[in-house]
Amino acid sequence: MALRPYIVGNWKMNGLRATLSEARAIDRVAARYPAVDVGIAPPFTLVHAMAEEAQAMAVGGQDVHAKPSGAFTGDISAPMLEDAGARFTIVGHSERRSLHGESDGDVQAKAVAARAAGLGVILCVGETEAERDAGQAEAVVSGQLHGSLPKEGAEGLAVAYEPVWAIGTGRVPSVEDVAAMHRAIRADLVAIYGDAGKGVRILYGGSVNAGNASELLGVADVGGALVGGASLTAESFAAIINAAAMLIEG
Ligand code: PGA
Repeated sequence: MALRPYIVGNWKMNGLRATLSEARAIDRVAARYPAVDVGIAPPFTLVHAMAEEAQAMAVGGQDVHAKPSGAFTGDISAPMLEDAGARFTIVGHSERRSLHGESDGDVQAKAVAARAAGLGVILCVGETEAERDAGQAEAVVSGQLHGSLPKEGAEGLAVAYEPVWAIGTGRVPSVEDVAAMHRAIRADLVAIYGDAGKGVRILYGGSVNAGNASELLGVADVGGALVGGASLTAESFAAIINAAAMLIEG
């Protein structure tokens, strides 16, 4: 891995205050591996408490509103996330795109707002199974990248490639398909940002677990993982962080 590996847990709508003990344990694992960047995106209700305690890992949001404040019932803005101690946010997760109808333009506006508030951004892209079966996976992902990446520059940006059909299903693409997609995403990043596009980490996400992390993280241009289910316990998430550390140590 040429760039620092970035292993991020997406807790989705999981986690109560009692779960903070898992986050503490994950933070201790992160402290043991200073060469790996570790993050957790808990539900908004836990961001502040988790960020107060985190020493070695970054805490982030799972989504953010594009406006800094206003009459948007139920939404959370980037300055609010930053104020609560978040250092990054996920934007454009497929569950937001499909369940909340978020367009590429919406995702781009969120990414711009997050960076304006000083937050790192993990911008998610990925094709559906029908799109892959139709041979359109790379075209779909390329369209999402061109439509949703902020145009101002690559600073603080990571991309997560998450095939929709691999999320929460236990199915993962072949190593060859992951390699081909990450190569295509890198080419798009360089087309959009020039040389700076080479420094953007491209995470793989979708059914990453302790058993497959090493193989997936070993693929060229896979700069880390965005992990759902397997990030919920320190035990399974630690194995993924460990796999990343072993790969850089060789
Ligand atoms: P999963 O979720 O690891 O449970 O498949 C990944 C994600 O949605 O980010």
